[in-house]
Amino acid sequence: MAQSKVWTRLPSWLIYPVGMIPAVYLFYAAFTNQLGADPLDALENELGEWALKFLVLGLLFTPLLKIGRVNLVKYRRAIGLVAFAYVFLHLAVYVALDRQFGWWEIWGDIVKRPYITIGMAAFILLLPLAITSNNASIKQLGTAAWRNLHKLAYPAVLFGALHYVLLKKTWEPEPLVYLAIILVLLGWRFLQFKRAVKNA
Ligand code: HEM
Repeated sequence: MAQSKVWTRLPSWLIYPVGMIPAVYLFYAAFTNQLGADPLDALENELGEWALKFLVLGLLFTPLLKIGRVNLVKYRRAIGLVAFAYVFLHLAVYVALDRQFGWWEIWGDIVKRPYITIGMAAFILLLPLAITSNNASIKQLGTAAWRNLHKLAYPAVLFGALHYVLLKKTWEPEPLVYLAIILVLLGWRFLQFKRAVKNA
């Protein structure tokens, strides 16, 4: 409990500059040619991986509170917005640097490559969450509707992980580990929900 108090004393705005450090480093390293043989590919992939890490982190707050009795909920919104920033940068690198604004090529990817279709679906699901992650929107929508809308995060994270699994041509352990962690976290939420319905 004492430990959770130390953590809750940190201001939540700190999450933004700290969370964006990897992005700043990755862009710097990519543009100074320090990201290996194909810096653009590495930049795109690393941003995608950080997006997934922050999305998974966003799913951990409720189990931490309910199982671990550690209340870090005040950081959840900032973590969610940092996750979205990484998804956005990942998409921006794909559109601007990888596909160089070749809109027909991008459209072709979306309709022909299942991993891009699913990645795009994840981005679209996250868009309304990012737009409404502010106090004015919570007030306007009402807490219940806002909470319901933010449940879109669950399919979005799942799609993010499936996107990662599908883009690999072979079964690689890393994407499968992400998918397994996400399935456990979503499964736990589903059980919580079922229990709440039963007890209502
Ligand atoms: C929630 C949304 C998303 C997440 C979590 C995500 C995550 C990832 C991850 C983890 C990787 C692979 C990293 C690695 O190999 O180390 C990746 C690669 C990639 N993603 Fe995403 N992504 C998302 C959305 C998108 C969107 C919207 C697009 C484009 C429309 C996209 C296009 C790509 C491309 C082109 C690659 C590289 C594939 C390759 O190297 O062949 N992603 N993404």
